[in-house]
Amino acid sequence: TFILGIEGTAWNLSAAIVTETEIIAEVTETYKPIAGGIHPREAAQHHAKYAASVIKRLFAEAKEKGVEPSDLDGITFSQGPGLGPCLRTVATAARMLSISLGVPLIGVNHCIAHIEIGIWRTPATDPVVLYVSGANSQVISYMGGRYRVFGETLDIGLGNALDKFARGANLPHPGGPKIEAYAKDAKKYIHLPYVVKGMDLSFSGLSTAASEALKKAPLEDVCFSYQETAFAMVVEVAERALAHTGKKEVLLAGGVGANTRLREMLNDMCEARGAKFYVPEKRFMGDNGTMIAYTGLLMYKSGNTLSLEDSRVNPSYRTDDVKVTWIREEAM
Ligand code: ATP
Ligand code: FE2
Repeated sequence: TFILGIEGTAWNLSAAIVTETEIIAEVTETYKPIAGGIHPREAAQHHAKYAASVIKRLFAEAKEKGVEPSDLDGITFSQGPGLGPCLRTVATAARMLSISLGVPLIGVNHCIAHIEIGIWRTPATDPVVLYVSGANSQVISYMGGRYRVFGETLDIGLGNALDKFARGANLPHPGGPKIEAYAKDAKKYIHLPYVVKGMDLSFSGLSTAASEALKKAPLEDVCFSYQETAFAMVVEVAERALAHTGKKEVLLAGGVGANTRLREMLNDMCEARGAKFYVPEKRFMGDNGTMIAYTGLLMYKSGNTLSLEDSRVNPSYRTDDVKVTWIREEAM
């Protein structure tokens, strides 16, 4: 089976062709805001400008491996969640390809794609997933036909919170990696608000308090304290989800998962609980076309395709809205 997938929920336009076992090709064009954060309409214009050339380059790469457009069995795209203008641009490109090649259209939930690629590219089979990216922060696990959200942010995603604080400190976007670098040179921990409500998280107060703390403390110490506090919060919720579900694996997903300190803290928690900790290769953690193509492939094989009428995008598409129709290893 050959499936072409397109990702474009936010800053990254990325398309890929995969089979059950192989990534045939992947081509990515990244939108880089000139100043400040992501501007939804500018990002959408970026995607519109590069969509044709990305697909053309993808077909050229695939051809080198002997795969032709006529070999494709389906076209899949990120149906949500994400920025409305970006989602619509990518959906339009996907519809056009689906019509011109005469193959079905498949709509993928972006968050679930982050999970499925992790399960594909690591030995994990039935993990508790900590998904921390720019816009999203959720603790998720599969149960009774759906990916259930055990806990999530009540305001902004951890990545956006880090980026927001970094912007205030005049660090370039994206701020996450910069904060990580400064944190390494810290001398002391500063108290910052730790907010876990039940199983849910809140980062906006933490971000504000960290910006405030900069008036009195060195950037290095604030970056370090921000990371220690925010990561302890997400690790706490992941640990409770492990205890609650009785599962034995933790999978890290999303762009913030690139952070070495977060990995270390999760690994320590897993070791203490006798659970296995898995992280996919870095290229599969941030937004990428391969994760959409692969999840689309699983859906396609379970007959989960879309009619054109049902192909509208959903900027607030929830992880637990999706009925999982495909066979997961856990079920085999
Ligand atoms: P989504 O649409 O799933 O919310 P996204 O479009 O924001 O994701 P991702 O690539 O998943 O994209 O995540 C980007 C985020 O990851 C940014 O907020 C960035 O600051 C953060 N990030 C990247 N590297 C690091 C790092 N080393 N430490 C902390 N945060 C990081
Ligand atoms: Fe993402």
